[in-house]
Amino acid sequence: LTLDDFVAGLPKAELHVHIEGTLEPELMFDLAQRNGITLPFNSIEAVRAAYDFSNLQDFLDIYYQGADVLRTEADFYDLAMAYFARAAADCVRHAEIFFDPQTHTDRGIAYETVVGGLNRAQLEAEAKWGLTSGLILCFLRHLPEEAALETLEMALTHLDKIIGVGLDSSEVGHPPSKFARVFARARELGLKLVAHAGEEGPPEYVYEALDILNIDRVDHGNRSLEDDALTKRLVASGLTLTVCPLSNYKLCVVEDMTHHPIPHMLKRGLKATINSDDPAYFGGYVNDNFRALTAIGLIDQADCVTLARNSITGSFAPDARKAALL
Ligand code: ADE
Ligand code: ZN
Repeated sequence: LTLDDFVAGLPKAELHVHIEGTLEPELMFDLAQRNGITLPFNSIEAVRAAYDFSNLQDFLDIYYQGADVLRTEADFYDLAMAYFARAAADCVRHAEIFFDPQTHTDRGIAYETVVGGLNRAQLEAEAKWGLTSGLILCFLRHLPEEAALETLEMALTHLDKIIGVGLDSSEVGHPPSKFARVFARARELGLKLVAHAGEEGPPEYVYEALDILNIDRVDHGNRSLEDDALTKRLVASGLTLTVCPLSNYKLCVVEDMTHHPIPHMLKRGLKATINSDDPAYFGGYVNDNFRALTAIGLIDQADCVTLARNSITGSFAPDARKAALL
């Protein structure tokens, strides 16, 4: 058994994947045709060639443009089914999936259309592959908190369809403190709380996510390592970090993969996990992310076991489900 085969067969949870970021160019073209939309690209190769980013905003611009082909309940269902099939092939047994309702409701797509299609796929994935999942509603942080509050209002009539809320999009200039009220409201509703913090933003944003938003998990968190007291606090709290190696490389959060902080995170005792973030845009699903690290000897087999276990223990799955997966 090679290390690749061993890692591929490890039962794992994926805790940081944006469903809109799983839109492969092939499906983008199919949906554009189905919905009578003309894409600003002539071919799948031209789409892939455009996926050359120098920072987070570069990527977000093209990612929001791509999401425009998603119009109907069937589109969201097809998108999620394609992700689940791919994740199941990577031995992902549980997935906690981000979705950005504002990207769709701001284009006139009903919240129910989005959640309806995603939820139908979730039920089918569980029946077909035994792949359990939960949805995490993300607020777009470049928009005002008022818009996030309105989005949470929309979700109230279908509260059982989501397990938590998150915070994504352009980080720098939009600190967690901007969303203090909407996160407090989500906590009152019994939702789990996560936030992207320390991807491009400074350690102060991670402190704010902890102290002001009261998050249950940190998405990315890379820049926490710049602050020793913060790192110690994250270790002591046992909070899980959802790290995304290929994303970090593609968005120039790390200079190259040999500089990826995952080995330091594990050495410090942080509860790091490996995730794909936006696999259609960053060149790989969860096992590709493991491989990007093992191929250069940055992590070994024991590290892979630790990372896969962290993903299960750090998930929001019921304890019985976690126990079954460990
Ligand atoms: N939306 C999708 N992927 C994201 C990322 N890596 N950071 C912030 N917002 C995102
Ligand atoms: Zn992300």
